[in-house]
Amino acid sequence: MKLLIMGAPGAGKGTQATALAERYGVPAISTGDIFRYNIANKTPLGVKVKAIIDAGEYVPDDVTEEIVAARLAEPDCDAGFLLDGFPRTMHQVHFLDTYLSGRGEQLDAVVSLLVEPEALVQRLLARAEIEGRADDNEDTIRRRMEVYAGQTAPLLFHYENKRLLVEVEGTGTVEEVRQRMFELVDARVEA
Ligand code: AP5
Repeated sequence: MKLLIMGAPGAGKGTQATALAERYGVPAISTGDIFRYNIANKTPLGVKVKAIIDAGEYVPDDVTEEIVAARLAEPDCDAGFLLDGFPRTMHQVHFLDTYLSGRGEQLDAVVSLLVEPEALVQRLLARAEIEGRADDNEDTIRRRMEVYAGQTAPLLFHYENKRLLVEVEGTGTVEEVRQRMFELVDARVEA
């Protein structure tokens, strides 16, 4: 099973990714988590991307694609994966399409979590108070949302045209969203 989970900043990708990955027995791979791990550990990659991420901009495609390629080459991805936060640009879409077609594989479904923009800002401001994530301040949140709208939201048309898109209303409790997502993804992959 090869899945993507997409959505604006704060839509709930990370919250829902683990359960969805467990349901289908595949690893959940979050590019944001990989970058934050490297930043926390002050690795060369972390040093390179920290200011970019703190400003709410996207890490360059070549850097991001290199870490995704390395992660997908690990044995736990042999039976599939759930990518959270990748792809985010058309270049990354082509990278993934090329990677999969080179292996004679294709995606099974692309989950898109839908939440109103103001609700997203409130969620991320609330998280800033609890977790203190460096990019969860109001200016950076709004910049992340602009970058998402300009560069990532259009990618959904690509997956809609490929009949892979599973749109999930992302408002409600975490459990409500999860059940809604499970039902829709189950129906898609069993169809
Ligand atoms: P990333 O970590 O992917 O950040 P993001 O897309 O901004 O998403 P978040 O992690 O903020 O939100 P989420 O949708 O995962 O929601 P969550 O479940 O956490 O990327 C960070 C940065 O890394 C990017 O800005 C970029 O710079 C860089 N990067 C990453 N990938 C890249 C790529 N491919 N190319 C280039 N650069 C890349 O939930 C948010 C909050 O809401 C939490 O507090 C949660 O508890 C709460 N919540 C979740 N669900 C609900 C609910 N149903 N009701 C109420 N609250 C909820």
